Amino acid sequence: MKQSNMIVIYRSSTGFTKKYAEMIANEMKCALEDYQKVSADMLSKYDIVIFGTRAHAGRIDGYQKAKKLFEKCNVGKLVLFVTGATPNAAADVLEAFWRQNLSEDEMTKLPHFYMQSGLCYEKMSLTDRLMMKVAAIMIKHKKNKTEQDIGFEEGIQRSFDNSSRVYINPLISYMKADMKSIAGYRR
Ligand SMILES: Cc1cc2nc3c(=O)[nH]c(=O)nc-3n(C[C@H](O)[C@H](O)[C@H](O)COP(=O)(O)O)c2cc1C
Repeated sequence: MKQSNMIVIYRSSTGFTKKYAEMIANEMKCALEDYQKVSADMLSKYDIVIFGTRAHAGRIDGYQKAKKLFEKCNVGKLVLFVTGATPNAAADVLEAFWRQNLSEDEMTKLPHFYMQSGLCYEKMSLTDRLMMKVAAIMIKHKKNKTEQDIGFEEGIQRSFDNSSRVYINPLISYMKADMKSIAGYRR
């Protein structure tokens, strides 16, 4: 298997996922493409697909639809990464997020990684800005706020960027270890 048989594809609205996708493709020296430009025909040339998208209102944005495409072109190996405003340190929140979005089978068989990013109101769509406004109003009026609620309320007030290259490391280590076990791979 040659390295060119791997592609990173990303869905990105405000640029965080794209940035992480670029870092990963650069590190793995593989192809990179915007999900919107990808077809089943084009994807079927690749053995490994690394798919990146954002967390969106507790869901993995576009994952169910993308999964259908991957099944259609019989992707040999799928690796998922998700970016979000939640800090990587919030292990319980992230564990609940994965459990809510992935099946038992996917939890064990689908390699999945989370990378903290931020919020970018300047590049956000109108719908997303409205969703954030609704979330802000709801949290403002919530009674008996937990520490997490207070952190969320404070955190969503303005744009921030907590992304860092270090958050791609677990995925890169996993990919490199996995590739080593495949004959013919050269770094
Ligand atoms: C409407 C909306 C809902 C969001 N929901 C979540 C969420 O449930 N969990 C989370 O960690 N981040 C959430 N975020 C933050 C995004 O996941 C984060 O900004 C992401 O990295 C954006 O990716 P992109 O720049 O590639 O579009 C949300 C952002 C918006 C605008």
